[in-house]
Amino acid sequence: MLDPFVESHLNLQVKISYNEHHDFLIRHNLLKCTQVLDVGTGNGTFLKRLAQDHPNIHFVGIDKRRQCVDSCQNMLAKNLDVMQVDMFSKKIIMDFSRFDGILMRYFLLHVDHAQKILELFKLNSKRPSRFWIIDLDWSQFTCEPHSETFDKLTSLVKDFCSKISVDSMGGQKVLPLLQKLNFEKITSENLPFSTRTISIEELALYLRQEVLCYSRMSGRAASDPETSEILRFIDEDFRSGKFQISYGMILLYAELN
Ligand SMILES: C[S@@+](CC[C@H](N)C(=O)[O-])C[C@H]1O[C@@H](n2cnc3c(N)ncnc32)[C@H](O)[C@@H]1O
Repeated sequence: MLDPFVESHLNLQVKISYNEHHDFLIRHNLLKCTQVLDVGTGNGTFLKRLAQDHPNIHFVGIDKRRQCVDSCQNMLAKNLDVMQVDMFSKKIIMDFSRFDGILMRYFLLHVDHAQKILELFKLNSKRPSRFWIIDLDWSQFTCEPHSETFDKLTSLVKDFCSKISVDSMGGQKVLPLLQKLNFEKITSENLPFSTRTISIEELALYLRQEVLCYSRMSGRAASDPETSEILRFIDEDFRSGKFQISYGMILLYAELN
């Protein structure tokens, strides 16, 4: 099973973003699809809500981790299946040509060969097929007015990403990659997590959990002074409304015809 802390963080992330991300899918042809694949489905919380909202579409979630697939078992439905598949495995048993919709939500940035994944779909997916890529975009991670403690928060995230070979600016690089591979009808929107759409309490909780996750995964001790300073900044300065934080998110749509 997944770590309960990671599980609750994934659930909060879906709670604060489902409406806007769902709206993006609807505005970009979800309703024209009959078979949708969710690559790197995690604990499946986002996919479960999609499947409940669209009983006439069949959804399949895949993830390379057994714990993720296990944690999805209690949400399987007539229109929702989950399978353990590693996109980089030499022997992928999955037939991608049955899907006319492919969702990659917080997935491409978490692998170090985004181009390989897109090439695989270019070679194997159905025509027409629709692609939605939703990911973090730290080039749009901002704080107004400037705060040195916020800079420490961005460094924490970037340090962790470089440790696990993830490109923290990867969100910006997907669009030219789609163009290079001749995907069509590419559109991109920036929809950051901010107090424009999320309550200050929920955004503060989300940022707090992000910091704890990244700090822990970077191997810092629970008493790490820099982590404590960042948490105090979120709990006091951000919560009191002194700062506006925008947590960058890029939403991309493309087609193969
Ligand atoms: C950040 S989670 C995204 C969860 C979910 N899509 C969401 O929107 O909340 C990224 C997921 O991608 C999965 N993953 C990473 N590399 C993978 C690969 N090569 N094949 C399949 N899944 C992979 C991880 O196990 C993880 O669950």
